[in-house]
Amino acid sequence: MKEIKIGICGWGNIATGLYKSITDNSEAIKNNSGLKIAINCIGARRDNPACDPGSVKVLRDIFDVVNEDVDAIVELIGGVETARELILAAIRNNKHVITANKAVIYHHGDEIFQAAREKNVKVLFEAAVCAGTPVIKVLQNDLAGNHISKISGMLNGTTNFILSQMEEGADFEPTLKIAQDKGYAEPDPSFDIDGLDAAHKLGILSHIAFGTNLPPKDFYIEGISKITGEDFKYTSELGYSIKHLAVVKSLGNKIEIRAHPALLINSSILASLKGVRNGIEIDSDLVDKLHIAGSGAGQESTASGLISDIIHLSSNSSNDFDIEKKENKKDVLDINNLSFQNYFYIESDDKNIISSIKSIVNNHNLAIEKIIQKDNLSNNLTPIFFITELCTEPQANMLLDEIKGMDTIEKVRRIRIESD
Ligand SMILES: NC(=O)c1ccc[n+]([C@@H]2O[C@H](COP(=O)([O-])OP(=O)(O)OC[C@H]3O[C@@H](n4cnc5c(N)ncnc54)[C@H](OP(=O)(O)O)[C@@H]3O)[C@@H](O)[C@H]2O)c1
Repeated sequence: MKEIKIGICGWGNIATGLYKSITDNSEAIKNNSGLKIAINCIGARRDNPACDPGSVKVLRDIFDVVNEDVDAIVELIGGVETARELILAAIRNNKHVITANKAVIYHHGDEIFQAAREKNVKVLFEAAVCAGTPVIKVLQNDLAGNHISKISGMLNGTTNFILSQMEEGADFEPTLKIAQDKGYAEPDPSFDIDGLDAAHKLGILSHIAFGTNLPPKDFYIEGISKITGEDFKYTSELGYSIKHLAVVKSLGNKIEIRAHPALLINSSILASLKGVRNGIEIDSDLVDKLHIAGSGAGQESTASGLISDIIHLSSNSSNDFDIEKKENKKDVLDINNLSFQNYFYIESDDKNIISSIKSIVNNHNLAIEKIIQKDNLSNNLTPIFFITELCTEPQANMLLDEIKGMDTIEKVRRIRIESD
C-alpha cells in the first residue's frame, strides 16, 4: 500500500479536526484510495486540550516541521505573513504543501506558485475555498474543457448561517456566537462579517477561472453588518432572500468581481441554500449551469477537503496545482460601471413620504418598479420599501444620499438585487 508522510503545522480547530478525521477514517481512506496517511509530526507551540496527539512527535517550533521526514506539510496556522514564510520554507526544502488558508493564497499566491514551480513541488488548497465542498479541483480538472463565463455564490459558511438564522427571526450577535462555538467562524470573525473571507475565496476562484493575479486588483467588498431583521421581513414579502453573494464574471477583456449582500429571487437554487452551506453556480459553455453545494466550514468538512488534497498529491504526478500563469490582460471593472436593481428600506416620521420619494426618484430619471408602505412601527415611524428599476451605481448612491439627507427620514438602507 502506498504511504504518504505528512507534518501538520498548527494545532487549533482545523488541525485537530484533521488529525481526528485521518485517525477515525483511516480504513475508509485506505479502502477508497489505497493510501495510508502517516502523520509523522505536528508543529504546535502549545498543547490543545481538545485533542491528544498520542505518540506523534510534537515540535514546538512550527518551522522545524519542514526539516522532518515528510512528503508534505499541511499549513493550518492561518494568518498571512508567518504562513507565507512557512510555506516558502517548506517549498525550499522540496516539500509539497497543502493549506486551508485562503488569506495567504489570496495575498501571496503568485509568489508561492512560482516558488513551487521552480522546485517542482505542488501547493494544493482545496479546503481554502468552501472547506470540503469540492470546487477547486472541479474547476481545474473536471471543467478544464470549458470556457467559464461566471462564478457566483455564497462562499462564507458563517455569513450564510447568520443570515439564515436571522431569516428565521434570530438576532445577529447571539447567532455569531453560535457560529463561533460550532467552529464555523474564522479565528477573527470580522473576516467573515466584513466579507473579506468570501472575497479571498473569490479572488482564488477568479485566478483559477480567469487567470487574474494573486493578489488581484482591488474590488468591491461589503459585509453583512448593516443587514437587520426588518430587511428579511420585507424582502421575503417581495419574494427575495438575502445572501452574501460573491460574483466574478468575464466580460470580454474585463472582469466584473464583487462580494456584497444581495437579494436573490426565492426560486433560485442559491437562495434555497440555508445554514452553514456554501453554494456555487458555475456558468460554462459546455455544461451550462453547474451547481455545487455543501458544508463550507467546520472541522470535519475542512478535514475532508484537506484529505482530498493529500490523496490527490499521492495519486497525481503532474504539476497541476496551478494553471499556467496567464498574462493578466483582463482589467477589473470598477463597481461604478455596473448597474443593478435596488431594494430601498426607509423609516420616516412623515406618513405621506411616498409622494416625496416618488418625486426624488423621478428627478434622478429613475423609475420605481414597486413601492409599499406598511403600518406604523411601535416607535410611530412609517416603514416604506421600494424596488428601483435598473440603475447605475452612481445613480443609486446619489438617490441614497438624497433620501438620507431628508429631514423626515430616520433610516434608509439599500441592498442590490442580483439578476440571473
Ligand atoms: N474554521 C473553519 O471552518 C475553516 C474552514 C476552512 C479553512 N479554514 C482555515 O484553516 C486555518 C486554521 O483555522 P483554525 O480555525 O484552525 O484556527 P485556530 O483554531 O486559531 O488554529 C490556529 C493554530 O495555529 C497556531 N498558530 C497560529 N499562528 C502561529 C504561529 N505564528 N506560530 C505557531 N503556531 C501558530 C495556533 O496556535 P495558538 O493556539 O498557540 O495560537 C493554533 O494552534 C485558517 O487558515 C482558516 O482560514 C478554517
